[in-house]
Amino acid sequence: MQHLLRPPTLAAFTAALLFISAIFSTSNAQNITRILEKHPEFSTFNHYLTLTHLALEINTRTTITVCAVDNSAMTNLLAKHPSISTIKNILSLHVLLDYFGAKKLHQITNGTALAATLYQATGSAPGSSGFVNITDLRGGKVGFGAEDNNGALPALYVKSVEEIPYNISVIQISQILPSPAAEAPTPAPSQQNLTAIMSVHGCKIFGDTLSAFHEAYSTFTDNIDGGLTVFCPVDNAFKAFLPKFKNLTAAGKLALLEFHGVPVYQTIAMLKSNNGLMNTLATDGAEKYDFSVQNDGDQITLKTKAVTAKVTDTIIDDVPLAIYAINKVLLPEELFKGKAPSPSPAPAPAPAADAPEAHKKKKKKKVADAPEPADSPAESPEDAADDTGDDSDGAVRFDGIVVTVLSLVFGFLML
Ligand SMILES: *[C@@H]1O[C@H](CO)[C@@H](O)[C@H](O)[C@H]1NC(C)=O
Ligand SMILES: *[C@@H]1O[C@H](CO)[C@@H](O)[C@H](O)[C@H]1NC(C)=O
Ligand SMILES: *[C@@H]1O[C@H](CO)[C@@H](O)[C@H](O)[C@H]1NC(C)=O
Ligand SMILES: *[C@@H]1O[C@H](CO)[C@@H](O)[C@H](O)[C@H]1NC(C)=O
Ligand SMILES: *[C@@H]1O[C@H](CO)[C@@H](O)[C@H](O)[C@H]1NC(C)=O
Ligand SMILES: *[C@@H]1O[C@H](CO)[C@@H](O)[C@H](O)[C@H]1NC(C)=O
Repeated sequence: MQHLLRPPTLAAFTAALLFISAIFSTSNAQNITRILEKHPEFSTFNHYLTLTHLALEINTRTTITVCAVDNSAMTNLLAKHPSISTIKNILSLHVLLDYFGAKKLHQITNGTALAATLYQATGSAPGSSGFVNITDLRGGKVGFGAEDNNGALPALYVKSVEEIPYNISVIQISQILPSPAAEAPTPAPSQQNLTAIMSVHGCKIFGDTLSAFHEAYSTFTDNIDGGLTVFCPVDNAFKAFLPKFKNLTAAGKLALLEFHGVPVYQTIAMLKSNNGLMNTLATDGAEKYDFSVQNDGDQITLKTKAVTAKVTDTIIDDVPLAIYAINKVLLPEELFKGKAPSPSPAPAPAPAADAPEAHKKKKKKKVADAPEPADSPAESPEDAADDTGDDSDGAVRFDGIVVTVLSLVFGFLML
């Protein structure tokens, strides 16, 4: 035992522990799944938080309140057979973007408050329907109602489940909050008009350009059912880029548009937890049109050697479709020379005139393959190795190290 813990070993071990606790405190402040697992009466609610990806969204936020309902209240909701994206809208109305512990709930200034919710934050909520009215009622009761529910407060506070001030408060309320907007059937994802959605959210020029290129537009819509994330450059960015866009070959235009789509559904929380290379709709095996995702604090950035763009807004997050606004046009390094000095020979120039044919054929296959590397950047080191981008390489390796260290620690904790 003694010679197992010689000073150098001990120091290394302590350093490792400090390193690990740093990781935990920055990226793993709370885990709603784990909190609710301790309470079997919320198992259905918990299951649907995971299924709708809301759990990850909750875990990456602080100063929030989750209004959980028990299994019988969930049974009433499920009896109406809502689609998964309707369930997501309804449950996201139950995540308040403020911290309400038991004490604060019973001591609301002026006895009433409107709380913004995750439903409102994802942009799916029309008008004021993403707000929840919380009102102190006679006899120490606290009533809850969706703002689009005619002033009725049908749900009552039951109890505090867990409070981690001021990061997360989990409370139980008596029933699901009725909300005509959240309960409305969502259009089948593949029926969504991408251009229309982009147009009303500050990305009209990109949307119009996309719809003018029928092949690109149908590549996007063909991918919706299997999961699609679109990064739309905002109008002033795409407008400034139009002269350069017009200068591209037909194949280049197609590749540039398709470069802004990723054939995997990604929430903000998933993007934050998945640093690394991301395949796009333009990716094909021969010419790698991919970019890397990197987090800088709370900011998600998308990088190629030619540009660094920031995600500025969520336009729609509706499983299996997510659309985010970005502040710059994503420039594939295959079409635009990077600014970074490159010691290795420059990559192949812009696609040849016959590229669209080959490009399209390969893409179909690649779409099916794509979720793998995008979901688990740490598992595809060869992707990083043959890419000359040092940044993305580093990010992928770092993820790999974290995964390895974490598995070691979990192994250690199990002992
Ligand atoms: C609350 O969240 C912050 C930021 O994620 C974290 O540093 C802190 O440790 C958390 N507090 C508790 C009590 O978990
Ligand atoms: C949260 O807890 C669940 C269940 O214990 C676990 O499966 C999941 O990996 C955890 N999530 C994170 C981000 O640690
Ligand atoms: C409480 O009510 C007073 C008087 O009606 C008002 O001035 C104040 O803004 C209210 N405070 C809040 C937090 O709503
Ligand atoms: C909440 O609803 C109650 C009852 O309809 C209403 O009296 C109150 O003004 C509402 N509170 C807010 C902040 O809108
Ligand atoms: C999508 O919406 C745009 C207007 O934003 C409209 O011009 C176009 O016809 C619509 N496309 C379909 C397929 O409905
Ligand atoms: C368009 O291409 C020509 C020829 O390659 C080049 O001289 C010109 O600067 C380009 N214009 C823009 C706006 O990139």
